[in-house]
Amino acid sequence: MGVGHPDIDIEAEIKHEPMRAQFDRRLISQALTNIIKNATEAIEVVPAEELGKGRIDVIAARENDDIVIDVIDNGIGLPKVSRARLLEPYVTTREKGTGLGLAIVGRVLEDHGGRIELNDAADIRPGARGAWMRLRFAVSGHAAKVEVKEPAAETKVTAPETAERADATNSESKIEAATGG
Ligand SMILES: Nc1ncnc2c1ncn2[C@@H]1O[C@H](COP(=O)(O)OP(=O)(O)O)[C@@H](O)[C@H]1O
Ligand SMILES: [Mg+2]
Repeated sequence: MGVGHPDIDIEAEIKHEPMRAQFDRRLISQALTNIIKNATEAIEVVPAEELGKGRIDVIAARENDDIVIDVIDNGIGLPKVSRARLLEPYVTTREKGTGLGLAIVGRVLEDHGGRIELNDAADIRPGARGAWMRLRFAVSGHAAKVEVKEPAAETKVTAPETAERADATNSESKIEAATGG
């Protein structure tokens, strides 16, 4: 399993080239990896007869002073718990989940002057199954108040390429997110 999953097509598109931004390459890469890992896991639980072909679209664009990266999958879709809860640490609906993936993404984006937005794929593709995660961060690379300790890498936004597990924890603790509520 992982980002190089043979049964999932991952398509990356950069809307406005060249797109330059300042950000911590390691942290933003980890955020994207967490999001794509979640998308992969959401696709894996769709019954084969319903799935068709697993697909993850990654679309990066510039919106005023923000970089916006949309990750749209055709997985099982977000569970019916409040989206704010899914961003909390240790909230997971997965047997082996840590519930840390989205919490880390939220934190990284906040530290870059942005946020994560959780939506349904159907919000932009009527009738579609799956989740639509929108990652937003400032082109300038950091929130106004945050002191940048290391120089942020000036780098072009590129397609994610890593396949490693990236929740950045060994913690096994979790809280089951209530479903259907
Ligand atoms: N792309 C997605 N599709 C469906 N559900 C998702 C997706 N991404 C996240 N989720 C939901 O959000 C929960 C929290 O995700 P995360 O913080 O990464 O923790 P974990 O992956 O360890 O469960 C997941 O358990 C899952 O219910
Ligand atoms: Mg996760």
